[in-house]
Amino acid sequence: MNIILIGFMGAGKTTVGNVVAERLNQPLFDTDQLIEQQTGMSISKIFEIYGENEFRRLETEILKGNLSANKDWVLSVGGGLPLKEENRGLLKKMGIVVYLRVQPDTVLQRLKEDKTRPLLQGGDVKQKVESLLRQRGTIYEEGADIVIDVDGKAPENIAQEIFTKTYCLDSKRI
Ligand code: S3P
Repeated sequence: MNIILIGFMGAGKTTVGNVVAERLNQPLFDTDQLIEQQTGMSISKIFEIYGENEFRRLETEILKGNLSANKDWVLSVGGGLPLKEENRGLLKKMGIVVYLRVQPDTVLQRLKEDKTRPLLQGGDVKQKVESLLRQRGTIYEEGADIVIDVDGKAPENIAQEIFTKTYCLDSKRI
């Protein structure tokens, strides 16, 4: 089974992905990491030198690459990847898409010192987070098979919720 975790920056996609992957004994992939490995550059550098559009092109390229040919993995995707309709379609075909829904306060708490997310640098970060979440919330919901609220929950409990809900989903599909 392929499980794909989507959601806003700071939702815990990679942390939860690690727990899910370990429990399923499946490898975990992360689109940001794959892009960094492929380009030899950090996400911030790619944004700085080539711009956001080029980064978004690389995200789609990653989805169309080796990942789609393999199965039984867990994938954590960058927060902006599901914004492209094409990417949402690709994700749905690849596996069960789980949206980790997070509230702005949790994001701010987790990312207040973060320097690695270009979209949150400088200016009023609270306003940026709130406005991006407002724009993206329904898009994430549309792109997902399952929605899980993550605020105040431990990664292990979120992973358990994913297993419970994917099991229900799978039996409905059968
Ligand atoms: C982004 C989220 C980041 C990274 C890039 C852009 C976004 O990934 O892909 O900084 O547009 O939300 P995480 O969601 O893993 O932080």
